[in-house]
Amino acid sequence: MKRALITGATSGIGKGVAIELARQGFTVVIHGRNDQKTSQVCEEIKTISGNTAVDYLVADLFLMEQVRKLAGEYHQRYGRLDVLVNNAGGLMSKERETTTEGIEKTMAVNVMAPFLLTGLLLDLLKNSPDGRIINVSSNSHKLNAKPDFSDLQLERGYDPLRAYGNAKLFLIWLTQQLSKQLKRQGIDNLTVNAVHPGAVATNFGVESNLGSVLKVMAKLARPFFRTAEQGADTLIYLASSDAVNGKSGLYFVDRKPANVTTTYYTEEREQLIWDYCDQLTKSLVA
Ligand SMILES: NC(=O)c1ccc[n+]([C@@H]2O[C@H](COP(=O)([O-])OP(=O)(O)OC[C@H]3O[C@@H](n4cnc5c(N)ncnc54)[C@H](OP(=O)(O)O)[C@@H]3O)[C@@H](O)[C@H]2O)c1
Repeated sequence: MKRALITGATSGIGKGVAIELARQGFTVVIHGRNDQKTSQVCEEIKTISGNTAVDYLVADLFLMEQVRKLAGEYHQRYGRLDVLVNNAGGLMSKERETTTEGIEKTMAVNVMAPFLLTGLLLDLLKNSPDGRIINVSSNSHKLNAKPDFSDLQLERGYDPLRAYGNAKLFLIWLTQQLSKQLKRQGIDNLTVNAVHPGAVATNFGVESNLGSVLKVMAKLARPFFRTAEQGADTLIYLASSDAVNGKSGLYFVDRKPANVTTTYYTEEREQLIWDYCDQLTKSLVA
């Protein structure tokens, strides 16, 4: 039976993906950051999907030490992984905040955590006959990214949307870079793609201290947003459809490969982001 790990599956899009993959007969491991909430959602998913093969793991993905622990627990308890959905993430607060490990929070949860978790679970994914990694990015990479390559964590000029746009752009570049590495290694049983789920009415941005203007805009736009189930659709497609067999290194919107902005792209910058994540995560996690 195929096994999937979905991060940030306690609400919104991630929960929608977990319910549907459980319905399809996957063995599903959901991840959350709060034990009680994650355990409750786990039970809910079992009831809704009619599949009892749903389990959960807990970790705060702001912290790379906890990402390492999560990967270790996954290895120990399950030992097989076919689909990894790096979904946890979102917009952070109006003022720049860093984690106790010293990483800017938007960068930590949207970029560093998926980079490290993927790296630590890659051995299992490579063993899958049909491994798939899905990185949840955003159209915000086109609208809001404005990276400064000498100040990747925005110590100067922090703005929550800019930090978020940058993070989702970097996540797409990491997706492309990993796909190239896998191809170079001759690995054709594991694909990695990024996705924009659309504008989805979830908890996204609701709790964060974004400032009144952004909050009012988000509230006014909500009735036009997709439901979490609709937002989950392309992720579920990438996780389970035969139509995407062998497709890798792409950015999907509404089940179709879409253009990534080329404004800031060079091969050197893509490599620079990879090396930056590699060095920083190695410095934090032995
Ligand atoms: N909604 C949209 O319009 C939209 C558009 C484009 C992209 N996205 C992306 O879609 C993904 C899912 O977002 P969503 O809209 O479903 O939002 P959501 O309802 O807020 O769900 C986010 C999930 O990530 C978890 N999470 C957040 N920070 C975490 C941390 N530090 N450690 C562990 N877990 C953490 C949350 O846990 P808790 O339940 O504990 O808070 C929750 O399970 C995100 O990557 C987001 O950037 C969303």
